[in-house]
Amino acid sequence: MKAIVYTKYGPPDVLQLKEVEKPSPNDNEIQIRVYAVQVNYGDIVTRNFKNIPSRELHMPLIFLLPTRISFGLKRPKRQILGNEFAGEIKAVGKDVTLYKEGDQVYGYTGQSMGAYAEYLCMPEDGTVTTKPTNMTFEEAASVPYGALMASTLLRKVNIKSGHKVLINGASGGIGSHAVQLAKHYGAEVTGVCSTPRLELVRSLGADKVIDYTREDFTQSGEKYDLIFDILGKSSFSRCKNSLTENGRYLLSSFKMGHILSMLRTKLGRSKKVICGIAADKQEDLVLIRELVEAGIIKEIIDKRYPLEQTAEAHRYIEEGLRKGNVVITVNHNNKA
Ligand SMILES: NC(=O)c1ccc[n+]([C@@H]2O[C@H](COP(=O)([O-])OP(=O)(O)OC[C@H]3O[C@@H](n4cnc5c(N)ncnc54)[C@H](OP(=O)(O)O)[C@@H]3O)[C@@H](O)[C@H]2O)c1
Repeated sequence: MKAIVYTKYGPPDVLQLKEVEKPSPNDNEIQIRVYAVQVNYGDIVTRNFKNIPSRELHMPLIFLLPTRISFGLKRPKRQILGNEFAGEIKAVGKDVTLYKEGDQVYGYTGQSMGAYAEYLCMPEDGTVTTKPTNMTFEEAASVPYGALMASTLLRKVNIKSGHKVLINGASGGIGSHAVQLAKHYGAEVTGVCSTPRLELVRSLGADKVIDYTREDFTQSGEKYDLIFDILGKSSFSRCKNSLTENGRYLLSSFKMGHILSMLRTKLGRSKKVICGIAADKQEDLVLIRELVEAGIIKEIIDKRYPLEQTAEAHRYIEEGLRKGNVVITVNHNNKA
């Protein structure tokens, strides 16, 4: 089968189209013919992992070292990127009971990656489930990572109707879903991103948008019940005055200092720091499908690239041009 393979860390050109062995499902696995894969933050970072300085990764050293070892210190251990996809089941292992050939699915392979390929295999109880009926394969492939991360992280804070919520990093994979979910919970949402993506964030339902290149939200005098910082670009000390009395400062990217702030604010009833670790479970993806089918989560596709042009897709994102999801489409040319 065809796959995009990389054998060394580096710029987009390290992504090469190659012929590799088609994976066969184990007894508990399903074999999925991939039709669409989204290019996300994880793909971009993992492609160049060795060369990205630790300070830019916003991760405490105790997590960073095992992550670097797991991905490969000098060269990538897993050579096919891509972890959120949509496709169709082509074969099932003998113990599989949940799926059959022809079922349309969407899913998330997490750190195992492997979706920049014509086929992939996953255990039937992995983070995979029936594709939302109201989405194309391309739209469905754009859902899993961001929606899973945003929903499991927001679950840690109990948003109530009428709460004021600020999402710092509202135009990316996690933030774009956090905006839509917070609106669904009845919050008044302010989305922060840079100039080219303000309209995108507005179109996702944000009540207000702030351009971080022109305005510092901590200086506006507004107070929020929740500040959700996706990349950890702000700090608790700067955000403290922008939180209501019982406000929460939720981080999906954090360093040791944030963890110490979380421990310091854990006791007591007022402003709290929460460093959240997200999970990806099949049952959560099922709930997300229900939200998609109810029209609560939508996806905006900016660009589509064929599998052969995956490097081009990475380049487009790195140039900061993306305004929505960038999806790789896999053309099977009517192969059986
Ligand atoms: N806690 C967990 O379990 C968990 C799980 C998965 C990922 N993560 C973390 O989540 C992060 C990736 O999130 P993502 O996939 O949403 O990334 P992404 O798709 O790259 O989006 C990044 C967002 O941050 C914004 N941004 C960039 N610079 C900013 C600044 N200086 N101030 C405010 N916003 C800024 C971007 O806006 P513009 O594009 O407009 O500049 C964009 O909205 C990583 O740090 C990763 O480690 C955590």
